[in-house]
Amino acid sequence: MSNIVEQVNYDELIPNNVDLSDDKKLQRALEQWQPKYKNWWLDMGPKGYQNAEVYLRTAVGVDPKGWAKFGYVKMPDYRWGILLAPKVEGRTIPFGAHKGEPAWQEVPGEYRAMLRRLIVIQGDTEPASVEQQRHLGATAPSLYDMRNLFQVNVEEGRHLWAMVYLLQKYFGRDGREEAEMLLQRRSGNADRPRILGAFNEETPDWLSFFMFTFFTDRDGKMQLESLAQSGFDPLSRSCRFMLTEEAHHMFVGETGVGRTIQRTCEAMVEAGISDPNDVEAIRALGVIDLPTLQRKVNFHFSVTLDLFGAEVSTNAANAFNAGIKGRFQEPKLEDDHRLMDDIYTVLYCEDGQFVEREEPALNALNGRLCDDYIKDCQGGIKRWNKIIAKTGIDFEIKLPHKAFARRVGVFIDAHVSPDGEILTEQEWAAHESEWLASQEDVEFIHSLMQPALESGEYAGWIAPPRVGIDGKPGDFEYVQLA
Ligand SMILES: [Fe+2]
Ligand SMILES: [Fe+2]
Repeated sequence: MSNIVEQVNYDELIPNNVDLSDDKKLQRALEQWQPKYKNWWLDMGPKGYQNAEVYLRTAVGVDPKGWAKFGYVKMPDYRWGILLAPKVEGRTIPFGAHKGEPAWQEVPGEYRAMLRRLIVIQGDTEPASVEQQRHLGATAPSLYDMRNLFQVNVEEGRHLWAMVYLLQKYFGRDGREEAEMLLQRRSGNADRPRILGAFNEETPDWLSFFMFTFFTDRDGKMQLESLAQSGFDPLSRSCRFMLTEEAHHMFVGETGVGRTIQRTCEAMVEAGISDPNDVEAIRALGVIDLPTLQRKVNFHFSVTLDLFGAEVSTNAANAFNAGIKGRFQEPKLEDDHRLMDDIYTVLYCEDGQFVEREEPALNALNGRLCDDYIKDCQGGIKRWNKIIAKTGIDFEIKLPHKAFARRVGVFIDAHVSPDGEILTEQEWAAHESEWLASQEDVEFIHSLMQPALESGEYAGWIAPPRVGIDGKPGDFEYVQLA
């Protein structure tokens, strides 16, 4: 039964499994948007590698067991398509005031503005990250890494398509206007910035890229998980398939940082350096010292926490009540999925102290998602620490306290150390450079960013991966440079 929907039609201009050719008006609208998208990709996508043949995976179906095929592609020829996870017959709205009613196949009028806003915000992050990463090709530490970067980039492009499809199909003229705007905003642009703060930061080097894919793409995962629960079925199905692709992005981040850590520890052991704080000697080996890695973790973690928005928020309550945006792993949670009478404990910082306060669970949904995110980060941190421990070096990477260096939410005015100590503004200022990368750290990292572009070659600051992509051997030519 589900085979029909799993087939993706690649004969059409826009590959899809949504019977696009049956909806001529939509097909025309999307075909008009496609060349603008292509122009955006050529302008703002990976700089300098548009003619290279890249060994990429392309989605050819939505069957979890065999949804992608690998092959050499020039990125501008990538087949960006519209893929929805298979429809679940008889699906009902899983939470909120409409719990148990049939899932919506059309936009419910009363929630139109809210839905549009959520789709636009999600959509805006996708091209933003491509823009942030567009200069990285030039300093790739290997062809393997370069290929992974481009894979992430083309898939973020596809995620933009996923959101633009929803806008154009379900939101008429407003949707078409939003689709245009998504190609007009630019990451970091003073006049037309991307919507969310973290997506206007630079991703200037590969360590930042790996940290970004570990921390910030994981926020993407949490948002997609929540939207995948949506009572608006087309949004749910879009997000469910996007999550399949998203897993690779976090793999790139986790293993990228992990390989960096591994190389640092190996170099220290080879040189007989056991003190991780012997920074000068470690840097002289051409690897990134662990305290600097910790500072990068502190930055990317705290900037990403800000993406969850205010911990206590009526917008989040409204979206849940409406059945539009659920919680992380909603189906596994054992409560009434309506939360009218439930409470959730939120941490505040008041008068120099942390205090816990019970808030209505509905209002605290952003805070809860943020807490779920923090737990989700822990697994990767543990695996990084195992890499360090194996080499016998005495150092542990830690997630900073959630109140550390926040610019959004309840901790906005607090000065809190990574260990969770509440400080005065002066104390904070005196220690900031121990906790967040200094200009000197950044310059050192940049000095290591020399490309390594022979097949099987790796830059000195990063260990090779344990296995190749698609089972390819270590010297595989993942990118054929033009
Ligand atoms: Fe994405
Ligand atoms: Fe992603």
